[in-house]
Amino acid sequence: MTAEYKVLGDIAVITMTNPPVNGLGFSTRIGITDGLSKANADDAVKAIVITGAGKAFSGGADIKEFGTPKALQEPNLLSVILALEASSKPIVAAIHSVCMGGGLELALGCHYRVAAPGTNVALPEVKLGLIPGAGGTQRLPRVIGVETALNMIVSGEPVKSELLASLPGQKLFDKLAASAESVFDEAVAFARSVAGKTGEALPLVRNLPCKHPQGDAYFQFAKNMVGGMSKNYPAPLQCVDAVQAATKMKFDAGMAEERRIFTSLMFTPESLALRHLFMAERAASKIPDVPDDTPKREIKSVGVIGAGTMGGGISMNFLNAGIPVKILEMKQEALDRGIATIKKNYEAQVKKGKLKQDKYEQRMALLSTTLSYDDLKDADLIIEAVFEEIGVKEKVFKELDRVAKKGAILASNTSTLDVDKIASFTERPQDVVGMHFFSPANVMKLLEVVRGKATAKDVLATVMAIGKKIKKTAVVSGVCDGFIGNRMIEQYSRQAGFLLDEGATPQQVDKAIEKFGFAMGPFRMGDLAGNDIGWAIRKRRAVERADMKYSRTADKLCELGRFGQKTGAGWYDYQAGKRDAIPSELVNKMIEDHRKELGITPRKISDEEIVQRLVYALVNEGAHILEDGIASKSGDIDMVYLTGYGFPIYRGGPMHYASQVGLYNVAETMKRFAKNPRDDAEFWQPAPLIQKLVAEGKSFG
Ligand code: NAI
Repeated sequence: MTAEYKVLGDIAVITMTNPPVNGLGFSTRIGITDGLSKANADDAVKAIVITGAGKAFSGGADIKEFGTPKALQEPNLLSVILALEASSKPIVAAIHSVCMGGGLELALGCHYRVAAPGTNVALPEVKLGLIPGAGGTQRLPRVIGVETALNMIVSGEPVKSELLASLPGQKLFDKLAASAESVFDEAVAFARSVAGKTGEALPLVRNLPCKHPQGDAYFQFAKNMVGGMSKNYPAPLQCVDAVQAATKMKFDAGMAEERRIFTSLMFTPESLALRHLFMAERAASKIPDVPDDTPKREIKSVGVIGAGTMGGGISMNFLNAGIPVKILEMKQEALDRGIATIKKNYEAQVKKGKLKQDKYEQRMALLSTTLSYDDLKDADLIIEAVFEEIGVKEKVFKELDRVAKKGAILASNTSTLDVDKIASFTERPQDVVGMHFFSPANVMKLLEVVRGKATAKDVLATVMAIGKKIKKTAVVSGVCDGFIGNRMIEQYSRQAGFLLDEGATPQQVDKAIEKFGFAMGPFRMGDLAGNDIGWAIRKRRAVERADMKYSRTADKLCELGRFGQKTGAGWYDYQAGKRDAIPSELVNKMIEDHRKELGITPRKISDEEIVQRLVYALVNEGAHILEDGIASKSGDIDMVYLTGYGFPIYRGGPMHYASQVGLYNVAETMKRFAKNPRDDAEFWQPAPLIQKLVAEGKSFG
C-alpha cells in the first residue's frame, strides 16, 4: 500500500506515499480506505487528517494506470471519495505543493481543507481531452463559484491557493496556512478544533448550492466563447455542459451526467492523441541503455560558435535559463550583428510585456563574446553553429579539441552532416554529440539529440537534462542523413512533388493537409523556409543517390530564382512586406508545362489521397527509422513531428495516427498507391516493420 497510517493522540493521519506526486493508483486508494476504516473503528481517534508525502498533496490519477482496468478497480476514486464523505469523524485535507485532478477531487470529498500558500491547484483533465471524472465539475463550482470553476476546468491551468483563498465567499479552503512547513501542524490543530463533530454537523461540498445568476444565458455565452477557441477538441465544450449540469440538476444526477460525459470522451481520437502525447513526452527522456541514475556532467557555462541565425537563438535558450554564454565568431562585425539580433528579439519581448526590463538586463549580463578559441577553455558545453560545410566543421572541432577543458561536451548543430565524422576530427569522440535545434531556436520546442557511435552515456544523460532545463523536448536520434525529422520530411516532400506532376496544384495540396490539421502545407512551408535549402539537398542527392526519383518542379522553381518569401516569390506570389500566399499563374503554368514534358495527362486528385500520400510517406519512413534503430520508440518520432513539424496535436503524431487508422488499412492503401503508374512502386512498399506488425495484429504502440 502506498499510504501510511499513524495516530497522533486523538488524530489519525493518512499520508499518501506514492512518489513522485502521490498519484492515486490502486495501492494508494486502498491505503486511504484502509486508513479510514481503522480511524473510524478506533474510539481514541476523534478526527482524521489526509496529506501527501514529499513534493505533492496529490497530482491526481496514477499515469502508470492510465487507460488500464486497474484505474477502475475498486475502490476506484469515486468510491474513495464516497468513503470520505461517509466517515462519521471529521476529515481534514492538509494540502500543499500540488493539488491537481483527482487530488483536488479527493480534497473536495473531505469535510475541511487547510492549504499551504503556493499550492498549485488545478483540474487539468481537459489537457488530456477529458473532463474531471470524480466529481470535480460538480463540486468545484459549489466552493468557488461557477465562473471561476469553469475557467479552471476549461483551461486546465493551475491557480495558486492564496489566490483562490482570497475569493469572496469561497468555501474551498477553510484555512490558508502560514507556510508549506506549517500546513500539517495547522491541519492537525484544525482537526482538533472540529473533533467530535459528527453526522449532519459535518459539512459536505455536495450539499452546497450551485447557481449562476444569469443561468442558461451565461452558459450560452460560455459555449460560444469556448467553442470558438477549441475547434478540434470536443472536451472543452463538454466541460461547460458538465458544469451547467451542476447548476441544473440535483447533485447525484449531476454526478451521473459528469460520468456519462467522461466515459464518452475516454476513447475519442483527440483524447487518445493527447494522452499518447503526455506519455510520449515523458518517455522521450528515457534512453533504453542509459539508466536514469547515470551521473551527469555539470554545465555551468556554455560556448557557442557562430552568431548567425542559429547561434543567436541557441544562445538565448541558455541565457533564459540563467546559464552564462560566450559566443565566438570569426570577425567582430559578425559578433556585433549577432548580438544586435539577440537584443532586438529581447526588446520585442519587453515591448510586448512578455519580459521585464530587469530580466532582460540580467540575461544580457550573462552574455559575452570573443574572437579567440582560447577564451572557451573553461566552457562546460560548447555548441557549434557555423556554416554547413564539413571542411569548416573540421577546422572548428580541431580548434575545440585543442582548447576545451577535459570533460567538456562538444556539440554540433549540424542538420545534415555525419556526427561520427565530426567526432573523428577530435581525440575525444566520446564527448561529441549532435544538438540539432530548429529555427527559430529560441522558440521551437524540439531538440534532436544526435547520438554518435562513440558518444558517452553520461554525455547523453547530461544533454537530455540540459534540454529539459532550457525547456526543450529532447528526443534522441541515431546518426543518419536528416536524423529523424528531416529524413522523414524528405519523403513527404517527394510525394508533394509527385502530386503536382499528376494533377494537383500547390494550393490544393496545402489546403488539404492544412485541413487535416498541419500548421502549414509543404509549399507554403517551402516558401517560408526557403526553397533553395531543399534544392541544395537535392543536388547533393543527385550525386549520392541517383536512383532516388524526384519531381523536377521544385528545381524548375529554383531555376527561376523563386526561393520563397525572401525573394518575394516562390510557389506563391507575395506582395512586398506581406506574407499572404497568392496563387501564382506563372507557377501553375510551369507545372502544366512540366506535365506535358513528362507526357502526363492530369487527373483529379482527391483531398483524401493527398493527405494519405503525405502522411503515409512519413509513416513508412518512420517505420524504417525504427527498424534501423535511429529512433528507439515510435513515440519519439511522434514527439519530433508534434513539436518540430506542425503535425496536428489532436492526431497524436504520424505513428500514433497510423496506429489509430489501423496498420492493416495503412498498408493496404500503400499497396494501392504502389499500383499508380506514375508512382514509385518501391516507394510504397510497406516497410518490413509495418508488414510484421500487420501480420501480428499489432500497432506501433
Ligand atoms: P548562418 O549562416 O546564419 O550562421 C553561421 C555563422 O557562423 C555566421 O555568422 C558565420 O560568420 C559563422 N562562422 C562560419 N564559420 C565560422 C568559424 N570557422 N568560426 C566561427 N564562426 C564561423 O547559418 P545558420 O543558419 O545559423 O546555420 C548554422 C548551422 O546550423 C548549420 O550547421 C546549419 O545546418 C544548422 N542548422 C540551421 C537551421 C536553420 O534553419 N537555419 C536549422 C537547424 C540547423
